[in-house]
Amino acid sequence: MNKALVMASLSACALNAAAAETPLHLRDGYARAAGLAPAELSVAAGEALFRRGGDGERQCVSCHTEDPRRKGKTRAGKLIAPLAPSANAARFTDAAKAEKWFARNCADVLGRACSAREKANLIAWLMTIN
Ligand code: HEC
Repeated sequence: MNKALVMASLSACALNAAAAETPLHLRDGYARAAGLAPAELSVAAGEALFRRGGDGERQCVSCHTEDPRRKGKTRAGKLIAPLAPSANAARFTDAAKAEKWFARNCADVLGRACSAREKANLIAWLMTIN
């Protein structure tokens, strides 16, 4: 195989790896980054962040609604697909997407980044919703 072909198959592998991301895998990756075992995650803390994070003026629920199985809306009125993986199979299947939106939304709502523990807890909670 020539070098170009090797490079092409390597990047195909990388793409496949990205596409194969799952909520479970992302949750466990954030847990590991926080130095926690999956069993140490808190579903209740994930739910509390979602429902009560922020100053009350701007919260996760402002855009995502109280029910993560439902569609949400941005301030500009654009629809947001449901956050719960049970209602939206595309959720948490792309690590870069999750990181991008955690960064934007945590800064927006909390005025700071979310920790790896908070992200893991949030995904853990969302995974319990049927
Ligand atoms: C101003 C509106 C708004 C607020 C407030 C908001 N979000 Fe979002 N969120 C969005 C939009 C828009 C997207 C991207 C569109 C999509 O993924 O459907 C998104 C996507 C996400 C994703 C990406 C999930 C994935 O597919 O990987 C996560 C996680 C998320 N939000 C969590 C939160 C959390 C946690 C909070 C509260 C700290 C929050 N959001 C507050 C609008 C908001």
